[in-house]
Amino acid sequence: MSSTEDLEYPQVLIQYQNGFLISKILFTACELGVFDLLMESEGLLSSDTIAARLGTSVSGMERLLDACVGLKLLRVEMKNKEAFYSNAEISKLYLKKSSPKSQHHNLMYYSKTIYLCWHYLADAVREGKNQYEKAFGISSKDLFEALYRSEEEMLKFMSGLNSIWSICGRDVIAAFDLSPFHLIYDLGGCAGALAQECISLYPNSSVTIYDLPKVVQMAKKHFVSPEERRITFHEGDFFKDPIPQADLYILARILHDWGDEKCVQLLTKVQKACKPGGGVLLVETLLNEDKSGPLETQLYSMNMLVQTEGKERTPAEYSKLLEAAGFKETQFKKTGKLYDAILGRK
Ligand SMILES: C[S@@+](CC[C@H](N)C(=O)[O-])C[C@H]1O[C@@H](n2cnc3c(N)ncnc32)[C@H](O)[C@@H]1O
Repeated sequence: MSSTEDLEYPQVLIQYQNGFLISKILFTACELGVFDLLMESEGLLSSDTIAARLGTSVSGMERLLDACVGLKLLRVEMKNKEAFYSNAEISKLYLKKSSPKSQHHNLMYYSKTIYLCWHYLADAVREGKNQYEKAFGISSKDLFEALYRSEEEMLKFMSGLNSIWSICGRDVIAAFDLSPFHLIYDLGGCAGALAQECISLYPNSSVTIYDLPKVVQMAKKHFVSPEERRITFHEGDFFKDPIPQADLYILARILHDWGDEKCVQLLTKVQKACKPGGGVLLVETLLNEDKSGPLETQLYSMNMLVQTEGKERTPAEYSKLLEAAGFKETQFKKTGKLYDAILGRK
């Protein structure tokens, strides 16, 4: 409901209208390397120096830096009427490319891929389908074939997905006691950040990343170093190839890519492969039962419309899919962060 102040002057509408301008300022400062340069310099830099070091115009950089100050991503100090900039604490932690909790790659994926698809949001709503063809000129029936159209795209996607687990991976893995499950398969485990979180919390378990062959090859080459190879890999297509027997299957951000029919098809296969007493851990962002929120999840569900064949769901909707596949005793835990956990037992 609108507040009285909003009806006299629609502040909230102005905020919404400007939402994408804010995103673009954040993406641009990341892309140009503002936060990384300020980290390396360990001191205060003027806009002239930043512009010269990053090869940009002074007039453009000055305004970008000031907007970042407005967004509280940078701090400014005036010395002899000249402005000097440094990173705010949040930027040091999350925006420097090489920091352990860096969200840089996720933001770049938003900027370079998601942003382009969202240009066609109205078409996605009209047609009820993703907009890859319009945004990227790709007419593939296979969603992931389109997504993995080049090594560069794969790297962007995998790095972007991985970075979110540095800020909420521990919460989803710790949501339930997974210690009874020793043999774990992370289906669609991608670049492996969640599998690593799982191994670090449950060192006596073995975790295998099951993904498409070219994803597994990229994960080995770029993401999971040989020393960390307590994680093993399995190349396969979970819709077409066999799924090996295990105690627990993790499906993180898998079902939200697909319509109900494909979800039940995949879960049924998983249920058949699952050892008696075993289970499946779904990691997804959960909508309220009446779909009234959370706003982030509603936004992500729109994103699934623009980008995939799937949607975000409520706990009851996930229970229904799990029950249709033969799983029982479904429990769910909201973590209070972006992603939540749902556990089904065989
Ligand atoms: C949205 S991503 C989620 C990745 C990861 N679980 C995470 O949350 O960061 C979906 C993953 O499923 C994998 N995938 C898609 N179709 C697949 C298939 N048919 N067989 C195996 N893996 C598949 C993709 O390669 C990708 O790694």
